[in-house]
Amino acid sequence: MYIFKKVADLQEYLALKRQKGLKIGFVPTMGALHEGHISLIEASNESSDITVCSIFVNPTQFDNTEDLQKYTRNLPKDAEMLGMAQTDILFAPSVQEIYPPNLVTEIHLEFGQLTKVLEGKFRTGHFEGMVQVVSRLLDIVEPDSIYMGQKDFQQTAIVKSMLQQQRRTVSLVTCPIIREDHGLAMSSRNTRLADTDRQNAKAIYEALLEAKSQLGKVSIADIKRKALVELEAAGFRSEYFEIVDGDSLASLTNESDVPFIVACVAAYMGEVRLIDNMILKGR
Ligand code: PAJ
Repeated sequence: MYIFKKVADLQEYLALKRQKGLKIGFVPTMGALHEGHISLIEASNESSDITVCSIFVNPTQFDNTEDLQKYTRNLPKDAEMLGMAQTDILFAPSVQEIYPPNLVTEIHLEFGQLTKVLEGKFRTGHFEGMVQVVSRLLDIVEPDSIYMGQKDFQQTAIVKSMLQQQRRTVSLVTCPIIREDHGLAMSSRNTRLADTDRQNAKAIYEALLEAKSQLGKVSIADIKRKALVELEAAGFRSEYFEIVDGDSLASLTNESDVPFIVACVAAYMGEVRLIDNMILKGR
């Protein structure tokens, strides 16, 4: 595996590969890697000639400086995991490289409700920062495909809209959520959970499964109410448990209104904020 820290070096290397007709797959991450991230590398390896993984803790997408400072940074360990997963290139740039002072990197696109609901309500500026960095990384890597996780359902919906608005030809591949044995979605934040909390956190997955089994049988309002009660009983402080149209992310009241339905949840276990989702109907 090659490790590049400079944009120019990476671009020079990739240009040569592109000239040979090789297809580039790209997996953007913020490091603190786990099996969820590795599943994206594997998906890229399967369909691309070269897999580029970026590790960049993007300061512009954090609404909270403490969260940014606390974010786990362990490049040697991440590099080892990526090497084992047969990643071709690790791109680990500095903040200077991504946001040089002489380059305009702000993006002005219109996302309507997509950036305002769910996570957008609770994390001011998060998606603007995410869009800014993904756009910048795509300009640098110019991949044929970008691989992202359904774990961050809203993020992929926004990136999809961004690609359309920017008329990019890169294809977005959304990969399934990788879970721990008892159902908790893998996340770099899980290591901050105490053992018993980690065990109790499976309640999120159970609430999502329950919602899926109840869709069409009881009202959406009742499904949401029940989920919130179950989460509270397991020790969670919920921010939201929403059932939305998987395309527009608009909150639904009736199951028969749209063909693609997703349940999205954000809840705190102690100080740790977890998010998860499940497709209840459709794609
Ligand atoms: P990060 O949280 O590091 O996640 C990188 C990618 O891994 C995202 O596409 C995310 O959805 C995916 N992922 C995380 N947990 C997963 C799981 N359990 N199963 C499957 N995929 C999972 O998301 C970001 O970084 C940043 O916002 C980024 C896109 C890199 C921009 O800074």
